[in-house]
Amino acid sequence: NVEAKVDSVLTLMTLEEKVGQLVQYNGSWDLTGPASEMNNKQKEENLKAGKVGAMLNVLSVDATREAQKLVMENSRLQIPLMFGYDVIHGYTTIFPVPLAETASWDLEAMERTAEIAALESAANGVNWTFSPMIDVSRDARWGRIMEGSGEDPYLTSKVAVAKVKGYQSEDLANPRSIAATAKHFAGYGFGEAGRDYNTVHIGENELHNTILPPFKAAADAGVATFMNAFNDLDGIPATGHKTLQRDILKRDWDWNGFVVSDWGSIPEMIAHGIAKDKKEAAKIALNAGSDMDMEGGAYESSLVDLVEEGEVSEDYINDAVKRVLRVKFKLGLFDDPYLYSNANLLDQISFEEHKAVARDVAKKSIVLLKNEKDLLPIKEFVKKIAVIGPWADDKDTPIGNWRAQGEANSAVSLLEGLQNNNDENVEISYAKGADLGVGERSFLMPLEINETDKSGFEEAINTASEADLVIVALGEDAFQTGEGRSQVNIGLAGVQQELLEEIYKVNQNVVLVLINGRPLEITWAAENIPAIVEAWQLGSESGNAIADVLLGDYNPSGKLPVSFPRAVGQEPLYYNQKSTGRPSNPTHVTYSGYTDEKKDALYPFGFGLSYTDFEYGDLQLSSEEMDANGSIEASITLSNIGNVEGKEIVQLYLRDLVASTTRPVKELKGFEAVNLAPGESKTVTFEIDEEMLQFYNANRKWESEAGEFEVFIGGNSRDLQKATFSLKK
Ligand code: IFM
Repeated sequence: NVEAKVDSVLTLMTLEEKVGQLVQYNGSWDLTGPASEMNNKQKEENLKAGKVGAMLNVLSVDATREAQKLVMENSRLQIPLMFGYDVIHGYTTIFPVPLAETASWDLEAMERTAEIAALESAANGVNWTFSPMIDVSRDARWGRIMEGSGEDPYLTSKVAVAKVKGYQSEDLANPRSIAATAKHFAGYGFGEAGRDYNTVHIGENELHNTILPPFKAAADAGVATFMNAFNDLDGIPATGHKTLQRDILKRDWDWNGFVVSDWGSIPEMIAHGIAKDKKEAAKIALNAGSDMDMEGGAYESSLVDLVEEGEVSEDYINDAVKRVLRVKFKLGLFDDPYLYSNANLLDQISFEEHKAVARDVAKKSIVLLKNEKDLLPIKEFVKKIAVIGPWADDKDTPIGNWRAQGEANSAVSLLEGLQNNNDENVEISYAKGADLGVGERSFLMPLEINETDKSGFEEAINTASEADLVIVALGEDAFQTGEGRSQVNIGLAGVQQELLEEIYKVNQNVVLVLINGRPLEITWAAENIPAIVEAWQLGSESGNAIADVLLGDYNPSGKLPVSFPRAVGQEPLYYNQKSTGRPSNPTHVTYSGYTDEKKDALYPFGFGLSYTDFEYGDLQLSSEEMDANGSIEASITLSNIGNVEGKEIVQLYLRDLVASTTRPVKELKGFEAVNLAPGESKTVTFEIDEEMLQFYNANRKWESEAGEFEVFIGGNSRDLQKATFSLKK
């Protein structure tokens, strides 16, 4: 058994070798920072000496084999390396960015894309992904909102489990599956003012009820590793946070994988002002339960001394090493260190099949936000379509940020998608309209956007004026979202808004297709443009998937995993807010709102239209009382009252009306996808049990409290049927 094997290896190890297992080196990026202090030759020597436990960014079967050989052929104990990489939404085949993919609410599809990403990674020597990112994120200013599953802890938890299952499969030693990472533990999505890496002020209540549930779900699903976070949390950097890592994760949740630091986040505790030097940072991090140091250089330079000086106990080191060895055993690396450096696997991959999956999940991720004048799907009488906008024929932005080995400019553009799939009698004309001047982009450098160039307007306006229908593709560049890409403006950058208004003046039959990675401020468009399609950054098959929806080959079924604001000043904005003591009083100003804008979302969480219409009947409860050990059923009849078949994501929300702490006005607690033919009806039933009513309460425990509850069912977090019941205890 694994534990006996782990123990048997541990007993052979010197302190230096143990510390070596807790060190992770970067393989390729030459970023500034601690890594650059050490040259490649020295790194090679350390690998040979068994002073390194894992690497990141070493890509390809050959490169991982070479690195593994250094260890296997030279080190005393020959403990294989793990190879990690940010495989966030695909490796070569690129799927929608995670925020987009979550809009599908299709857990099976999300598991499948993780499985494919794992296979493509494993075929390239990578056996560990730093994904899923399950930071609940509610601030559209934060660039990394594209990398998570949005604002809701329940939905994020479900996605977390699907992703872990997909990456890891039933058996980690299956050479087609890889280790996953639940990141960033914890609170990273709550950086003040949406600024990346910024201070996080959240209390215990929010930590337990909002931030931690997805991590608990991932831990319960057996995720192999956790990554901690760059931010501090109420004064303590997450990397040095003992309560989080040692007490909650390892003790209370009894999780037995290992925690890797974020890149250099251990020495960053010096800048945080928590450690005076690297050595002190290493001491704080290890004692707090950070097991592996990613490119920080702190553990390798100080841990041995810290143990010898009695500042870090060898028991803690042993525990950390056992955790790392355990994952390596489970990955099958002790049986075959080259298991994932197998050149044959790549030949077995059907990239065509992966593309088909990418198209399928991409079309399911599209959210129809508005469809007036019956513009969509595009009707047969439309013979001239103008396709306009900086993202209309862009083959790169749909690949998104955190694109792994997704090739630049490799996506099917919207224009190509329409050309590939359109009736040949329809004439498609194209004009870019606005060149935002985004040239060469890189992961690290800021993006320059041309704010003034309107030289393409005339051609675009002429093209639009001659068409029966105008499709305008606006949004944001792939590198406007992602790490370090926080923005204070979330409108349409550059001259895009002006372009849209000019086009609308000459032709009102406009379909706005948004290509973006975060919620955008599109209030003018929502008021004026008849049809709006949220098409995110959908990955390799983007254009084909958008065409599927625009042409009616797929009836849109996506629902927003995050609220779209009326104005950026509403951020952070989310549906599951607290009531406050002054929820509303429209007759005067002294209530919780804004004097210059409504307080609710422009498009709320869970929202998304279809080409058909759904009608919800009355909400029925099987009983108005529930015992602590019993359950009740909430049912609703859903009817397709439109003309085409469609899929609706029926959502269940609950509210605890009086509790020992303030509670959200509603919380998602279940959902079900229902397919209905025109005229068809189906009754959807959710079971509600006591566990669903539990929350981290004033007793600092997960408990339910007796009293009144509201149940809501509907097609989004705003338009809901309601009933009430009470819990007896
Ligand atoms: O996995 C990432 C993390 O999300 C942000 N910092 C760098 C890590 C490794 O690339």
